[in-house]
Amino acid sequence: MAEISSNYAPLTVETLPARLGRIDAISARLGADISAWQCVEVGDGNLNLVFIVSSPAGQVIIKQALPYVRLVGDSWPLPLKRAYFEYHALIRQAARDPGLVPEVYYFSEEQAIIAMEFFTPHIILRHKLMARERVEGLAETLGNFLARTVFRGSDLSMDTAKRKRDVALFVDSVELNDITETLVFSDPYFDAERNHHTDGLGPIVARLRADIDLKVEAHHLKAKFANNAETLLHGDFHTGSVMVTETDTKVIDPEFALYGPMGFDIGMLLGNFWMAYFAQPGHGNDADYQAWILEVVADVWASFTAEFSHLWRTERTGILYEESMYEGQPLASEQALSQRLSMIWEDALGFAGVEMIRRTLSLAHIAENDSIEDEALRAACEARGLDMGRQLVVNRTRMGDISQVNDLAQQINKGVSL
Ligand SMILES: Nc1ncnc2c1ncn2[C@@H]1O[C@H](COP(=O)(O)OP(=O)(O)OP(=O)(O)O)[C@@H](O)[C@H]1O
Ligand SMILES: [Mg+2]
Repeated sequence: MAEISSNYAPLTVETLPARLGRIDAISARLGADISAWQCVEVGDGNLNLVFIVSSPAGQVIIKQALPYVRLVGDSWPLPLKRAYFEYHALIRQAARDPGLVPEVYYFSEEQAIIAMEFFTPHIILRHKLMARERVEGLAETLGNFLARTVFRGSDLSMDTAKRKRDVALFVDSVELNDITETLVFSDPYFDAERNHHTDGLGPIVARLRADIDLKVEAHHLKAKFANNAETLLHGDFHTGSVMVTETDTKVIDPEFALYGPMGFDIGMLLGNFWMAYFAQPGHGNDADYQAWILEVVADVWASFTAEFSHLWRTERTGILYEESMYEGQPLASEQALSQRLSMIWEDALGFAGVEMIRRTLSLAHIAENDSIEDEALRAACEARGLDMGRQLVVNRTRMGDISQVNDLAQQINKGVSL
């Protein structure tokens, strides 16, 4: 664990104005008169302190890491340096797809504090999905963001020196890497201590944990995650890391950023949309809205591939698939592109599947399911997610295209086959 500086101290709503009032980058947004600052702790983060600070002049988000997991307390230590990785990820994402992530106004490594742009009136996408509200441009914005960050953060874009140094910077995020490796890829497949699941799922869970094909394939995906440092990932790209209005989409919270396989972020996102789809019977059962979620899934993938292909054709300045090598052979670079996209597609389906399984069996579940009070109904929604998750993990190399995968979701939605 990183050393905690003797100067480190968690902020409180009482101490925050005096402690941050003299920092120009913050007072430039809020005004120098700290008696006019009002602080509220957002309180829905699992890991960190997050404050909204408001004054007549403006509003700022202050996020501070604690030396432990906030939700659990000091029995689960977690180093402050996660703020450092979040800061570095935010500035890279801002350069690769401007305007999508909060602008960073100020960062203190010693205090593990990031002061950043407050998105308002945005709400977390997960809540929007539970309220059955649509977001214009959602799929296109997310697909483009994923393509731009995945491409521009990889050795398709970066030269050797820049790329190796950046891998070295992020490689130190070992504790957060370990959380993903354990909670996402291993815990769901045995009776791990932090697991929990809805009562009615017992027999299905027993079957899944006895399923050799599933366990082996899920572990192949863990190996990809741990070994394939293809690009700088967001690392926690679910619908709780997206904030939206009716017409605007933003991305927050990359503290789990790491170098990993290109299909990971998009796979996690699609898995969360499919779970939101299966959870809809717990939120009003609106068939049109369910169909809209599947449209979003199809459009995210379409936007991702279109933008990735565009960048491949126009911005390949990095270590891999150099233009000079394919001179006079444009078809060769198109062949390489379509094969790389197929690899990302297969990985993405696998990662979507492990995400759907871990969000039902491991420590962290999703609000769309947790908020369904009727246990039998919740178990039915979750069982559909598990069914699809298993099929994605085991059959990811032979699933067909996105419309066929959405068809599978529709079939499963009519009744569980497990
Ligand atoms: N830039 C922002 N603009 C508006 N609201 C924000 C912003 N950043 C965070 N929030 C709010 O604060 C909440 C917690 O933030 P965040 O998810 O970054 O914290 P966390 O401790 O990493 O939580 P988690 O356990 O969900 O990862 C978000 O769900 C959102 O409601
Ligand atoms: Mg977080």
